[in-house]
Amino acid sequence: MTSIAVYPGSFDPLTFGHLDIAARAARLFDELHILVVHNPGKSPRFSSAERVELIKHSLAEAGRFGTSFPSAAHVKIVIDSLDGGLLVDYCRKVGASALVKGVRNNADLEYELPMARVNRDLAGVETIFLPSDPQHGFVSSSLVKQVADLGGSVEKYVPSVFVKALQATAANKTSK
Ligand code: PNS
Repeated sequence: MTSIAVYPGSFDPLTFGHLDIAARAARLFDELHILVVHNPGKSPRFSSAERVELIKHSLAEAGRFGTSFPSAAHVKIVIDSLDGGLLVDYCRKVGASALVKGVRNNADLEYELPMARVNRDLAGVETIFLPSDPQHGFVSSSLVKQVADLGGSVEKYVPSVFVKALQATAANKTSK
């Protein structure tokens, strides 16, 4: 049986921490869906279609950032988006039995646990928590946006396509 998992998140932007979790999850399953999900609690910088495109480019360049994904022969990776509806319905649609989440600290776990329990209760979908690599433990998408908007360098935190996209949108913000 093919094991299929979904790695959901806002990914606004995708960080090297996210990329590391995706690469590690890709070693555990036959098929991994990296899913850009609309989080109603956040107002995203990039549209979900933009994020999907930027993530595709990021994965294509992942080797250059030192993140190695298993070869296409070993795992199928799908980049997709979900702009409404339940995550577990997406899981049902694609035949996924597991969700993958990266955990940096206790606050992440507290935020994730209720969602993991609800998703299991709703549809029997299990959540696999992967501890973040300590080098990425302090990086968040919101901090990266803040640093980029204030003119700081974010090359260490996000793939180069996201660096460019953040610089472009930060420039737009100040010129308005
Ligand atoms: O990167 P984020 O913003 O922390 O990701 C949170 C996200 C989008 C994964 C979460 O909000 C989510 O799972 N949304 C899906 C909607 C859903 O199914 N909700 C009910 C059960 S949790």
